Amino acid sequence: MALHAASSTGHQRRPRHPLHGLANPVLGEDLVVPTERLADQPLPAETAYRLVHDELLLDGNAQLNLATFVTTWMEPEANRLMGECAEKNMIDKDEYPQTAELERRCVSMLAHLWNAPVPEHAVGCSTTGSSEACMLAGMALKRRWVRRRQGAGQPVDRPNLVMGANVQVCWEKFCNYWEVEPRTVPMEGDRYHLSAEEAVARCDERTIGVVAVLGSTFDGSYEPVAEIAGALDALQETKGLDVPVHVDGASGGLVAPFLDPGVVWDFRLPRVASVNTSGHKYGLVYPGVGWVLWRDEDALPSELIFNVNYLGGNMPTFALNFSRPGAQVVGQYYVFLRLGFQGFKAVQQASRDVATWLAGQIERLGPFELLTRGDQLPVFAFTTRPSTTAFSVFDVSRRMRERGWLVPAYTFPANRSDLSVLRVVVRNGFSRDLAGLFVEDLGRLVPQLSRQSGPLETDGGTGFHH
Ligand SMILES: Cc1ncc(COP(=O)(O)O)c(C=O)c1O
Repeated sequence: MALHAASSTGHQRRPRHPLHGLANPVLGEDLVVPTERLADQPLPAETAYRLVHDELLLDGNAQLNLATFVTTWMEPEANRLMGECAEKNMIDKDEYPQTAELERRCVSMLAHLWNAPVPEHAVGCSTTGSSEACMLAGMALKRRWVRRRQGAGQPVDRPNLVMGANVQVCWEKFCNYWEVEPRTVPMEGDRYHLSAEEAVARCDERTIGVVAVLGSTFDGSYEPVAEIAGALDALQETKGLDVPVHVDGASGGLVAPFLDPGVVWDFRLPRVASVNTSGHKYGLVYPGVGWVLWRDEDALPSELIFNVNYLGGNMPTFALNFSRPGAQVVGQYYVFLRLGFQGFKAVQQASRDVATWLAGQIERLGPFELLTRGDQLPVFAFTTRPSTTAFSVFDVSRRMRERGWLVPAYTFPANRSDLSVLRVVVRNGFSRDLAGLFVEDLGRLVPQLSRQSGPLETDGGTGFHH
């Protein structure tokens, strides 16, 4: 949520046309309504709808939004089902026991998909998205560490969390809100994410865990989870430090199981304590759902779970929010049921095919250099070649927006803040046909941009945040 300051900007009354009120029954009234404070009187529903609807036309087109990882298209049947559940509150598990049952089944499906040693023993829940899921996972890591230290009579001040500088901002928030020192490993040269060696070098007896990202937000690459876990095994053997791993599979958690079965990153690795994913990213559901699972009950300290009984039943909850839409969970169950393993595989493969094809086409245009190729997450980052001096990635982003394409440009974090990239996220619904139009538009733009005497924009004036 953006923080909004109350503004005093008022709207001016428009001059009235003589036929005002006669020619158009919906918009014919004096429609100058206050937008910064509540109007005194109600509006007819149809008029209010038109005002809001028309204003929203100024938003970008979600289908052309190559910036977001979040689902922008679902089947009509899913829309219908979710519309039917719009009024259901996820927390009312006693009142909506079947919605709660669908949530439980989704957790069970993920436990199987992520190879929990005993899927029935895995514990998990839905969340509003990966950010909340990561907060919960981080809290569990911290509490386990505190318990262990207290049990051994050791101090519990100054906990730290080891991760790459490429982590999504939710991990910085976690460290800030829960007072954990973030030990971020900077990028170096062409290493754009965490390596096992660098992770282990930062662990000590105050490390509550290591976050490994399956599908970096910055460039779509997978971090080497198995190598990180292996290096931590070795650390335990040599120094006795037992540091658990949380896998942030916000995107990759629902890509890798289908497309990369040979990549071992999940509960097959005993060191992986918990995993999160965004149901609303490659889980193919509209915004508002994430998931977090722990390998077993030992990985989730029981004192973090609240038993709430004032809604008519005794209900264990582990969440930051209380009320939350039930429709997204129903949408997730629909997608799981509808696609099954093979359906998911086909959808994610189609996205990967489009991403790798598009990356190749962009490389062939000449002035661009690929950092990744869309062959892990269907996401790739590219920059301008050193010989391309007439324009910047920010110029490309701005000019592509004139055609409706939303493609973010941003600067990498330390120690590669010298590097600015464009990133394309290919999602279900972004067809090869649209990708072809994208590359045609980019190709048409290159000669124009090349005639500039130099970059017009040199930083993230696009206001893009991860
Ligand atoms: C790796 C990673 N973790 C966490 C998040 C936060 O996810 P959400 O938007 O579901 O809260 C994102 C979002 O892009 C992400 O890419």
